Amino acid sequence: MNDLTNNSFRHLFIGLDKKVSIINDNKIIAINLDNAATTPVFKSVLDRISKECELYGAIGRGLGQKSEYSTKIYAESRDYILDFFNASKEKYTVIFVNNTTEGINRLSNILIEDKSNIVITTRMEHHSNDLPWRGKCNLKYIEVDENGRLKLDELEYLLEKNKGLVKYVTITASSNVTGYINNLSYLSNLVHKYNAKIIVDGAQIVAHKKIDFSETNIDYLVFSAHKMYAPFGSGAIIGLKEEFERLNSDLKGGGTVETVLDNSEVLLPPPEKNEAGSPNFFGAIALVQSMKELENIGYDVIEKNEKILLKHTIKGLNSINRVISYGDNFNIEDRLGIVVFNLKDIYYAECASLLASLRAIAVRQGAFCAHPYVKRLLNMKDEEYRRHLLDTTCKMPGMVRASFGVYNSINELDIFLNTLELISKLK
Ligand code: ALA
Repeated sequence: MNDLTNNSFRHLFIGLDKKVSIINDNKIIAINLDNAATTPVFKSVLDRISKECELYGAIGRGLGQKSEYSTKIYAESRDYILDFFNASKEKYTVIFVNNTTEGINRLSNILIEDKSNIVITTRMEHHSNDLPWRGKCNLKYIEVDENGRLKLDELEYLLEKNKGLVKYVTITASSNVTGYINNLSYLSNLVHKYNAKIIVDGAQIVAHKKIDFSETNIDYLVFSAHKMYAPFGSGAIIGLKEEFERLNSDLKGGGTVETVLDNSEVLLPPPEKNEAGSPNFFGAIALVQSMKELENIGYDVIEKNEKILLKHTIKGLNSINRVISYGDNFNIEDRLGIVVFNLKDIYYAECASLLASLRAIAVRQGAFCAHPYVKRLLNMKDEEYRRHLLDTTCKMPGMVRASFGVYNSINELDIFLNTLELISKLK
């Protein structure tokens, strides 16, 4: 059992004991509570990269020994990813991308055949699962309630009202703001009942909770490696082979074709058809190595620990007078280890900046690339939310976010809470 007072998984990572400069040029060990944005690197990921450099060669483009070796490892990475998510190799394929944002943009380019296609998304989404769909299809939204949870009856209503016309429902597995976890089995059952398909933005969940395709029956999952301790510029789309076979790829070029004639070409099947140009080999193996580490630690342990950290933090925040917390902080069963808050009368950016300068604590501040959702959590209307754009004396609304990784400890959270209390008394 991992002791969370000082988390014993810390030794698995690079840089956690690195000192940074704070106020008065003092140097102290940084505390990272911004894991929802990006995560530090597993040591074994870097070791694996350096080992694979020795036998690195062109992927799918040569018969030299190194090329053959690297091509095999790259192909095995796809298989590993499918096995990891318990996704059938007959039904699904893996397309490597740079990150979730790119993956969802690519899906919107590939899957939407006509502007009249109906796609449903939600007001809980990160911009990356909202903006790529805008202007390309008939996009509809489901709302969130006063605590920020999805109004699922609205989804059913929209599916029923547009019966047979909805092509895709695209939804986050978990919010990058409140950490709410959406019930994928329930959602995919409902979506499939109306003959639509479900796309899941997995960016925020993959390092925290296991997704099982055979259990949830989702159609697409998109996620990034840099949020699961492997920041080497990779991510993946896991999706339906049949649709990638049938639909045009949005990218074309080297590696996608069987033959090119003067005026026509014969494409390879997916995933090659969908991966133009030399692949990001190191991104793929880094991702796989980090997944292996997460499996070794065990998602049951990860989930359990995160809940302990979440409870501890919420209790601490509740005891600080000026804290205004967002989301449901009583029923936290469906939440990942993320908290969002403000200190009354202290601008969120100032609070984040003081956390960094006083005690080297990294959090994220602002609206977290989820403006429509944050606006709702702040209970603001459009006019109020955008006032800063027209009036330079107004500041952009937002909040402070602390998000936990598998290595964070109770000690770190106590330092964070004590520093926050100090800041709350400064002004
Ligand atoms: N999506 C990332 C975040 O929430 C960047 O910070």
